[in-house]
Amino acid sequence: MFSKETYVNRRAELKKRVGSGMLLFLGNDDCGCNYADNTYPYRQDSTFLYYFGLPFAGLSAVIDIDNDREIIFGDELTIDHIVWMGTQPTLHEKAHSVGVDTVLPSAELADMLEKARKEGRNIHYLPTYRAEHVLKLWKLLDVKPGAEQPSIDFIRGVVDMRNHKTPEEIEEIEKACNVTADMHIAAIRAVRPGMNEYEVAAVIEGVAASNNCSLSFPTICTVNGQTLHNHYHGNVIKPGDMVLIDAGAERPSGYAGDMSSTICADRTFTPRQKSIYDIQVASHLAAVDMLAPGVPFVDVYERSAAVICAGLKDLGIMKGDPLEAVKAGAHAMFFPCGLGHMMGLDVHDMENLGEVWVGYGGKPKSTQFGRKSLRLARPLEEGFVLTIEPGVYFIPELIDLWKGEGLFTDFIDYRELDKWRDFGGIRNEEDYLITSDGARRLGKKIPLTTEEVEALR
Ligand code: GLY
Ligand code: MN
Repeated sequence: MFSKETYVNRRAELKKRVGSGMLLFLGNDDCGCNYADNTYPYRQDSTFLYYFGLPFAGLSAVIDIDNDREIIFGDELTIDHIVWMGTQPTLHEKAHSVGVDTVLPSAELADMLEKARKEGRNIHYLPTYRAEHVLKLWKLLDVKPGAEQPSIDFIRGVVDMRNHKTPEEIEEIEKACNVTADMHIAAIRAVRPGMNEYEVAAVIEGVAASNNCSLSFPTICTVNGQTLHNHYHGNVIKPGDMVLIDAGAERPSGYAGDMSSTICADRTFTPRQKSIYDIQVASHLAAVDMLAPGVPFVDVYERSAAVICAGLKDLGIMKGDPLEAVKAGAHAMFFPCGLGHMMGLDVHDMENLGEVWVGYGGKPKSTQFGRKSLRLARPLEEGFVLTIEPGVYFIPELIDLWKGEGLFTDFIDYRELDKWRDFGGIRNEEDYLITSDGARRLGKKIPLTTEEVEALR
């Protein structure tokens, strides 16, 4: 948690940005995993954390902009809670620590909102992403499930603030990135043929745990790197394999790190592996080189994709003009995802508020295969924190589909591509802060080139 002033100032700024009405913040509750008392690890809603700092279940809050009131709704612990969970500061004490003086029992939230609705007040709420939020909006505001109409003014106010990281946030993110880097370095040292993927995942997650961090998302640790979000850890690593790791730490404050690396199972990469790996690195470096305020991230994406096309053209897998291939969408055979995303209190920061607002400034997204997965396209601004993670993937099902449909035959040599169909996938990922005149990598460096990986093997 930051100082009281941080939360007071953030709320004051949000009030200015939204202007009028009441802002409703629904915190997250505990959620039973296999029975009610055996819960998933608790995670507070990130927007609630950003404005109210309190990582506890069972809270809601209202900012009444028109009457300049800030209220936290929740219930003090009973003796039963204290018997099972131990002594804790009271809710009033917790609220004071973030500069909120008014605490009311949860039951009073419904009354307050009903009165406000009768008075015709504008009650702003954010998009839902948990069933409990949907049910609460139904109960509190009579908004039927599926009929939610989140407030665009509220979304924009939150997004514009959270997209610009302050020095104290950057310090937290950098700490998460340093632990994340150690997770990857440990994995790069650990991988050996004969190990199970889950043993490498355990090494990675052990580094997070021993640094008092949790995971910012479920660990990807796979010999099938062509599957973008592969959470299966049951394969044995064989000689000649590559292991793709995508893993990150989350600090107790909630701030995330997110990095990827691709490791040879043997001491060194084969020449065939290196030929694709070098294309990924060239694409990665081309993207990093462009990072600066004012540069549309969609241009960075197109450049990184064109570098991949040019590299694959040198290998005979693609043909034609690389930039034209990207404009047409042919690159998505090998790079069917985005180049990167905002990162902060969420690993994909504020994805629950809508990518169009976070990554596109309200402009519509493309629907083209590949490009539609670009989470960030808008011009970069100082204070943005984002990931750079181009990849080169050979997805047999996609190859068969496009070949069968005769797609992009001007740009893809399917006969040559067939020789690579079982290659797998390569991704490396780093985290960057946009500065006043460029960008700065966050966290210590993890190996990027084949030589750097091999030096740790
Ligand atoms: N780290 C997973 C992702 O960025 O999608
Ligand atoms: Mn990522």
